[in-house]
Amino acid sequence: MAQDMTTIPTRVDAHVEIDALHHLRIGGCDAVELVNSYGTPLIVYDEDVMRRTIRAFHNVFRAAGVPYQISYASKAFCTLAMCQLVYEEGCGIDVVSGGELHTALSAGVPAKAIHMHGNNKTVEELRYALEAEIGAIIVDNFYELNLLDELTREYGREVDVLLRVAPGVEAHTHDFIATGRQDSKFGFDLASGQVQTALRQLTDLPFLRCVGVHAHIGSQIFDIEGFQLMIERLAEVYQYGLQKLGLPFRILNVGGGFGIQYTDEDAPPTTEILAAVIEAVKMAFSSRRMPLPTIWIEPGRSIAGPAGVTLYRVGSQKQIPGVRNYLAIDGGMTDNPRLALYGAKYHAVYANRADAAPEDTWSIAGKCCESGDMLIWDAALPNPQPGDILAVFATGAYTYSMASHYNRIPKPAVVFVRDGSAELVVQRETWADLMRRDLPLPKRT
Ligand code: LLP
Repeated sequence: MAQDMTTIPTRVDAHVEIDALHHLRIGGCDAVELVNSYGTPLIVYDEDVMRRTIRAFHNVFRAAGVPYQISYASKAFCTLAMCQLVYEEGCGIDVVSGGELHTALSAGVPAKAIHMHGNNKTVEELRYALEAEIGAIIVDNFYELNLLDELTREYGREVDVLLRVAPGVEAHTHDFIATGRQDSKFGFDLASGQVQTALRQLTDLPFLRCVGVHAHIGSQIFDIEGFQLMIERLAEVYQYGLQKLGLPFRILNVGGGFGIQYTDEDAPPTTEILAAVIEAVKMAFSSRRMPLPTIWIEPGRSIAGPAGVTLYRVGSQKQIPGVRNYLAIDGGMTDNPRLALYGAKYHAVYANRADAAPEDTWSIAGKCCESGDMLIWDAALPNPQPGDILAVFATGAYTYSMASHYNRIPKPAVVFVRDGSAELVVQRETWADLMRRDLPLPKRT
């Protein structure tokens, strides 16, 4: 299958094929065979889709001729194989916890290619980051600034930091995932002068080298306006730090947030937005007569999301006359809580008869003891038959990484597919795995 490795497919199912058996093929692999080999629920990642997206980002930067770094936001999907794949494609890695840092380091990603975020990094996490000598720490608040000052004095070791700015920009996105607005737990507040105060403090801290500023205004963003406003505000901060305070600024990190297509309603202009972001940085810096910084982006969803397809076996049905048809699958909010949390929408087909015409609407329910455990409301699907396998598209980001053990349901297996071959990259959990940390009731005398 010859695929253009320089553009991002715009349709949610553009990367899959339907074969003569009417089966869905992902990365050249028959989805029904994958289920027979690995069971369900199964998250299948098409490696080429991820590699293609990253290469498309590289190409936009190269075409613009600017210094840059793409840091994969590993919170979207963080496993050994995933960290290896994105590093292989020339990305750094953004981590937000000791666990993500441990995964990236264990994957063989050099510490210098890793940077760490988080609004409440613990002392243990900061020690881990400092001892590993990671590339940069994004300082989020005054508490952390003091902690880092103390720790770096103790180690007698310098570290590069970026200052996280809350720029007061609200991206057009779901309310719960807008993180750049003023009333947010993340970052130093720009409007009240916290940013300037923190930068002034940084001029006095001997082991903290403040190399730039950062902001992230939200996720699943389709408009450029929020980015443009954020970049203007960051450029002002940058100018203050560089020209007034003489800080060794060289990085402008504009965060992630590039939207993807979940259903036909979404039309993400991902590469256009990135090109416009770069243009906005160029303008903001040239108009202030500042040298162009290295532009960092931190895409998570746009890399992992479109590549993932989750396969489930269908089970029970409930038809309520004149009300709704429910169809239950053998997973749900434990492997994908995004409908429950954000009202997310998804597109689905049956993998074993992928081109069958829809006959009715079926609402896809999970198997948890919770009414809100739904995956899709009113999906247009053929009427279900025993043995059907539901394939839900664009489920690669914030699904496995947000999976839970509610109702003691084991987490699914994950495979990467490419050129017709599949590799298991996360084993399916067993019931025994679920109890591994449990201890029996102590016998008290
Ligand atoms: N950088 C920072 C500082 C972030 O907080 C995030 C996401 C990213 C980068 C990556 O953003 P992305 O490119 O993936 O949009 N669980 C939610 C999304 C939460 C996003 C949190 N921060 C969801 O499932 O929609």
